[in-house]
Amino acid sequence: MDKMPYAEPYKIKMVEAIKSTSKEERIEAIKQAGYNLFNLRSEDVLVDLITDSGTGAMSDKQWSAMMLGDEAYAGSRSFFKMKDTIKSILGFDFVLPTHQGRAAENVLFSALVKEGDIVPGNSHFDTTKGHIEFRKATCIDCTIDEAFDPTLIHPFKGNANIEKLEETIKKYKNNIPFVIMTVTCNNGGGQPVSLKNLKAVRAVCDKYDLPLFFDSARFAENAYFIKKREEGYADKTIKEIVAEMFVLADGMTMSSKKDAIVNIGGFIAMRSEDLYKKCSVFNIMFEGYLTYGGMAGRDMAALAQGLDENTEFPYLDARISQVEYLGKRLKEEGIPVMEPFGGHAIYIDALRFLPHIPQVHFPAQVLGIELYIEAGVRGVEIGTVLADRDPVTREERPPKTELLRLAIPRRVYTNNHMEVIVWGLKKVWERRKELKGLELDYEAPIMRHFTATFKRK
Ligand SMILES: Cc1ncc(COP(=O)(O)O)c(C=O)c1O
Repeated sequence: MDKMPYAEPYKIKMVEAIKSTSKEERIEAIKQAGYNLFNLRSEDVLVDLITDSGTGAMSDKQWSAMMLGDEAYAGSRSFFKMKDTIKSILGFDFVLPTHQGRAAENVLFSALVKEGDIVPGNSHFDTTKGHIEFRKATCIDCTIDEAFDPTLIHPFKGNANIEKLEETIKKYKNNIPFVIMTVTCNNGGGQPVSLKNLKAVRAVCDKYDLPLFFDSARFAENAYFIKKREEGYADKTIKEIVAEMFVLADGMTMSSKKDAIVNIGGFIAMRSEDLYKKCSVFNIMFEGYLTYGGMAGRDMAALAQGLDENTEFPYLDARISQVEYLGKRLKEEGIPVMEPFGGHAIYIDALRFLPHIPQVHFPAQVLGIELYIEAGVRGVEIGTVLADRDPVTREERPPKTELLRLAIPRRVYTNNHMEVIVWGLKKVWERRKELKGLELDYEAPIMRHFTATFKRK
């Protein structure tokens, strides 16, 4: 009781109106959208939790940095500002800007991944997996088993199982271009990786002479959890923890739309000049010249400022406390949520919410549709639709967890918005037994979740 309540370490200077719709309008809108939440117009959404990617609110300092952006095609001042910030916070000498995270993956994997390769890691994100499988290579998920039980409390559910990782490396040694660790794991419920685990992964990579890359979209949130949960880090700053994490990596891919709080942007950073040269060829081909790679100068300027702001504790504390607030409120109301709560999102466990709907009829997608209809809240399915079919057999491959992700944009919503989400889910919970599954109407051959359409059963 004596503890001062947390408050956001900022005040709001500009607001954007959002529109309310009636339940009837939402029933029609989602039908027109083919029961795919991606196909909705954002105007028809009240609280948009489809992603925390590119949806954050920039600070006054970021906006003013944009005004100072240098739009030179080559040698932009803003590129060097970004490069220097990356060097000082993450420690890498070589940087290639890209238009977003998957573009960084495309460029890096063009240089490193070939047909038949095996890429071990922890809960590879869908674009990572997509770009690896597109090259007829395979991801092997070495995440610890505890990660797949949504009720089990474990401080670092993003950790790799070191024995499994080593076995995989021994088995496929000659076909492994690198190991990739995702910090935090988006697909795994926004769960972090401990520094102890990252160090152990590094040791295995050293033993087998393999490079280690971090998929770093939410690296600052990962560092926050290390500070909060791992012994010996409570008194370190976020920037000190980040430095200790990244000294272990040979390079990183980054979707700056998350932990650098920009609306668009990404980059690859690395230590090796040789790799930089290899990647440069693909960067120029796919993204743009080496000092802009698909980004406007002003966006690189905002990115540099965002990286600095988002590696400060008070900001991260307020952000993650808001996510936790939503999780606790849902739990209080008896809604089955994945625990521990993620850094950027709360994940609703569709297997416990709708146990009567088999995974091949997409219960998490059903839940997302019903939450939208009830309250105008848009989440996203992280389940069988996202998992895609097996690329070889074309069979469905339902994942171990079936989740509705409610990703909270950074610095955008208040806790009153969180209450609307709680209210909506309670309403769906009350009528959960009446809900039926879905069937696919259309699906693309890869990354189908973005464009698939469905029929109600
Ligand atoms: C862990 C992770 N890696 C990579 C990406 C891809 O980034 P982008 O959406 O910027 O292409 C994402 C996006 O959500 C992500 O969460």
